[in-house]
Amino acid sequence: MTFQHAFAALAALCAPAVALAAGDAARGAHGFRACAACHSLVAGEHRTGPTLASVFGRRAGTAEGFRRYSDAVRQSAVVWNEKSLDAWLRDPASFIPGNAMAYQGLPDARARGDLIAYLRAVSEGKLAAPKAPGLPDLKAVDAGQRVSAIRHCGDTYRVTLGDGGVHAFWEFNLRFKTDSSPRGPRQGEPVIVGAGMGGDRAQVVFAVPEEFSAFIRNECP
Ligand code: HEC
Repeated sequence: MTFQHAFAALAALCAPAVALAAGDAARGAHGFRACAACHSLVAGEHRTGPTLASVFGRRAGTAEGFRRYSDAVRQSAVVWNEKSLDAWLRDPASFIPGNAMAYQGLPDARARGDLIAYLRAVSEGKLAAPKAPGLPDLKAVDAGQRVSAIRHCGDTYRVTLGDGGVHAFWEFNLRFKTDSSPRGPRQGEPVIVGAGMGGDRAQVVFAVPEEFSAFIRNECP
């Protein structure tokens, strides 16, 4: 972060005191839905963004195990409290220029106050962290989702499943992903998810990227 950025962040922190009315945590819980697509409130559970469990009083960019912080956030020297969260949520791009949070900001001061009251209540253990909407456990799928072979021929992937079914996809409609979390598939046991098996698009999830080319054979029927 440049000196100017540091200064801008500092200036925002010291901006003429906007009275921060104590927000309503219950309303804030509702408002958190806008954040839940990217943030969990469960400790250690990172998604697109870091977990916001215990965010109060924490230095920005220090949630353990989150590997996608921008340099801007890591070097900001911001500590999260009512004031800094208010400035961040009002206009993330000007509070910490160059940050990587794809969120345009919440102009409504009361909605910010409610959201911050909610984050504080959860951080301090006064409200239970909601369970994040379940991502599936890819170790516990049935045979119809377990991939036993993938063959590539021309512009087509043929995916053989554990129940014996073979499904053909136009190569552009099949995505390959990894999930290294505890929910991810076992090594060597990729799983197919998405658009229902009748659909024309799907995703194959592997444990590690090394499996991509090892698993996919070039072979025509
Ligand atoms: C599109 C995904 C996305 C949305 C929506 C989103 N965030 Fe974020 N958030 C991120 C990412 C990614 C980061 C890390 C940014 C960086 O390092 O530059 C982040 C960082 C943060 C941080 C700093 C955390 C830390 O450990 O320093 C806070 C606080 C935060 N977000 C709160 C919120 C709140 C509250 C909302 C809802 C109003 C929200 N975010 C909406 C993706 C998102």
